[in-house]
Amino acid sequence: MTIYSADSRSGPGLAAPVRWVAAAALALLAPLAAASEAVPAGALAPADVPAFLDKARCIACHGATDRRVGPPWVAIASRYRNADGEQVGALAAKIRLGGAGNWGLVPMAANPQVSDAQARAVVQWLQALDVGKLPQ
Ligand code: HEC
Repeated sequence: MTIYSADSRSGPGLAAPVRWVAAAALALLAPLAAASEAVPAGALAPADVPAFLDKARCIACHGATDRRVGPPWVAIASRYRNADGEQVGALAAKIRLGGAGNWGLVPMAANPQVSDAQARAVVQWLQALDVGKLPQ
């Protein structure tokens, strides 16, 4: 048991970057807290996804075609167009939990107000996105 508690303490080499990422994620999340109440609960039909992305404040960081804090929807859509079920689940989890490393060092904040079913609906909407029909 003493071995376990010693292991659970992070050494100085690990603690600093971990703390930095946590602080960055929290800083990004803070302005979203107020908006989260507006996120509709319940099932999400494909036609309702664009309005949902607006209400959930995703569009603060994601443009249709322009890179903001995060990658544009078209880039995510073309990267994951043929994603299998496992990758869809991983992406849905990332929408809810946040994370970094697939597009750069900037982390995406967590979106705990989004349900797993809603996150999966967003990923499926992205996969079906007709990239050519988006406004430029
Ligand atoms: C505070 C800014 C911010 C907000 C708000 C945000 N994102 Fe992101 N998002 C990012 C960043 C930055 C990345 C790139 C992360 C990486 O490099 O892995 C990202 C990546 C993604 C990805 C691709 C993940 C991957 O691993 O390829 C999806 C899908 C996504 N966001 C969906 C959403 C949805 C849906 C919402 C709203 C519920 C949302 N994002 C809100 C910043 C944000």
